[in-house]
Amino acid sequence: MNIYEFAQGIFYIGVNDRTTEKFESLWSLPNGVSYNSYLVKGDNKIALIDTVHASLSLKYLDNIKSIIGDSTVDYLIINHMEPDHSGAISLIKSIYPGIKIIGNTKTAGMIEGYYGITENVVSINDGDELDLGGKKLKFIFTPMVHWPETMMTIEQQAGVLFSGDAFGCYGALNGGIVDQELDVDTYIDEAYRYYSNIVAKYGIFVAKALQKLEGIKLNYICATHGPIWHEQVRRIVDTYTRLCHWESEEGVVIAYGSMYGNTQEMVERIARQLALQGIKQIKIYNLSKADLSYVLSDICRYKGLVIASPTYSMGIFPPVAALVEALKTREIKERVVAYFGSYTWAPMATKKLAEILQGMKVTLIGDSFDLKQSMGAKDEEACDAMLKAFINELG
Ligand code: FEO
Repeated sequence: MNIYEFAQGIFYIGVNDRTTEKFESLWSLPNGVSYNSYLVKGDNKIALIDTVHASLSLKYLDNIKSIIGDSTVDYLIINHMEPDHSGAISLIKSIYPGIKIIGNTKTAGMIEGYYGITENVVSINDGDELDLGGKKLKFIFTPMVHWPETMMTIEQQAGVLFSGDAFGCYGALNGGIVDQELDVDTYIDEAYRYYSNIVAKYGIFVAKALQKLEGIKLNYICATHGPIWHEQVRRIVDTYTRLCHWESEEGVVIAYGSMYGNTQEMVERIARQLALQGIKQIKIYNLSKADLSYVLSDICRYKGLVIASPTYSMGIFPPVAALVEALKTREIKERVVAYFGSYTWAPMATKKLAEILQGMKVTLIGDSFDLKQSMGAKDEEACDAMLKAFINELG
């Protein structure tokens, strides 16, 4: 049972999911994931902040009861309605029928839509406060981080921010709950992956939320996934700040498709040329077998990206097309992108890649080329011209 009173009267009561293979049925979870919920015990009232995934709701209820016994819960604060957090609302309501469910007007519509609940649903405004007796909760609206109803809640006296998905990461909690109890680097890596998979499309809204939090003293950041940030508050805020502004580290991701090895041969050559230029972080992904979740994570991390695709059915090779579509969805910015294609009789992949990539706010290297069948001296020359421009832009 993962329960921890990390600040006076404020408890972690979340659960670990080590069974689900794909988050949102899309993103792999080799290390599991935690669904975090919190209990705040004031002198007069008790509040829960968010719930957990429905599949773990009985374990969650045990967590609550182990702290408050037969006492009742007065409020359920809903920072975020995605079902990985709202899945236990109906159960909580059935156990504590008088509970007031607190959210904003958008939350209220979703509670009715998902769970058919309208009774005792209270809509609050941005900046409103809720007094629990000795503890006050303040609500900060942060729409689109990650859904329109998203908000954060802060207990100002202890400086505890309940941040919803923001500052969250994949990875179940392996014993440690607060950052100083665990290997932080692993969870920071998982924060990159989580952000790139789930939040990246909403970077502009993350930036707005971060602005809103400026000047507020934060002792603890309690996200809906991953550890409670305490010693590493600055690090996770800085990480999210860099990510939402598409800042990057030195390094190159090469993401490619190759049916018979010819495109891959050129990829190997490119990687070698980059290494000879002193670039050490080179991540190569064969998209036919790579996990897109990790590819996106590295693209959010590193400055350079090379995309290579064979022509397939007069278009882009499907796994490469899936990556390009994912980048378009996330409105990738501030990256240096080179691309090339390969073909047997009609060079269509390069043309189609150019059409899509030209619409992105990236520095696109125009010197692309088409590899016909297998690599020859002319292709090596074309590749060198592309790499020269690419390396120049990487700076
Ligand atoms: Fe973890 Fe957007 O839900």
